[in-house]
Amino acid sequence: MKAIVVYESHWGNTAAIARAIATGIGADARALSTSEATGDALVGVELIVAGAPLLGFSLPTEKMIEGLASNPGNPPAPPDLTQPSMRAWLATLPAGTGHAAAFETRIWWSPGSAAKAILQQLETLGYRPQGKSQRFVVEGKYGPLRAGEVERAQAWGAELAEALVE
Ligand SMILES: Cc1cc2nc3c(=O)[nH]c(=O)nc-3n(C[C@H](O)[C@H](O)[C@H](O)COP(=O)(O)O)c2cc1C
Repeated sequence: MKAIVVYESHWGNTAAIARAIATGIGADARALSTSEATGDALVGVELIVAGAPLLGFSLPTEKMIEGLASNPGNPPAPPDLTQPSMRAWLATLPAGTGHAAAFETRIWWSPGSAAKAILQQLETLGYRPQGKSQRFVVEGKYGPLRAGEVERAQAWGAELAEALVE
């Protein structure tokens, strides 16, 4: 099954989860940044899994991302601000009828959901939700991912793929 796992990621946590989900889905799945998931990369795709970090209790807004440029809170590494946001990617994604699933990375206790906003937008475009959205937890504001989350992401990818071949 041709699948793409598209991610917004500023410190690499969401990208790492996306790669694990793609591995779990199988050989026909690729993890792609928002700049890579355009044009030919979308042709024939049966499953889109999309994920982003939860920032400021929400799917990151352009304002929130711009604010990261000043490195508030002394992050351990500068953020990657070179890719379009998940919001911007969703705004340019053509309508479709394939399957879709969403995930987010976040601190465990926070209110808000990025995955919910992503899935709503995918549904608005005509994609059919598959499975329950997932939350993958980081240990601090910038990561790292909690132990076991990469494995859980891989298992979820495998579950999504199995559900779609049944
Ligand atoms: C400026 C900033 C705001 C954040 N806001 C939230 C938040 O509201 N809720 C939450 O659960 N995590 C929050 N986090 C933690 C991030 O969601 C988490 O580190 C995420 O995994 C980052 O993903 P990335 O490495 O792919 O960019 C915040 C982190 C930063 C740096």
